Amino acid sequence: MMSHEDLFKAAKAAMANSHSPYSKFPVGAAVRATSGAIYAGCNIENASYPEGWCAETSAISHMIVAGDTQISEVLVMSQKMDKITPCGGCRQRISEFSQSDTPVYLCDANGVVETVTIADLLPASFDLDDHT
Ligand code: THU
Repeated sequence: MMSHEDLFKAAKAAMANSHSPYSKFPVGAAVRATSGAIYAGCNIENASYPEGWCAETSAISHMIVAGDTQISEVLVMSQKMDKITPCGGCRQRISEFSQSDTPVYLCDANGVVETVTIADLLPASFDLDDHT
């Protein structure tokens, strides 16, 4: 079993619960925290379109509520895209709780298609580590 198979299964199960009647574009995500725990999420849309949020955001919120604070791996998948990548806002949210070399597994409906790092996705990122 590939090391990210458990993340993929968690994201796929979350994607099955996606609330995306407007875009009809279900997305699933999962993060593994440094504790080893996995947190999954789906996109949750709203009749007021801008009020919806992404699968990655759901997964991160589960992680934070559970008391974990550091992501060691991220996986994102969609039913309808050959290789989904996190949106700009989610790149920033992932970055907040990751290291520059944290892997992000980009998937289609069947498995991982490409592995990148969060720094690949968000170069020259804004963070306050040295300024607060
Ligand atoms: N979406 C995600 O959940 N994650 C992404 O990485 C890209 C986009 C969602 C937002 C919206 O519910 C739907 O996909 C279409 O944009």
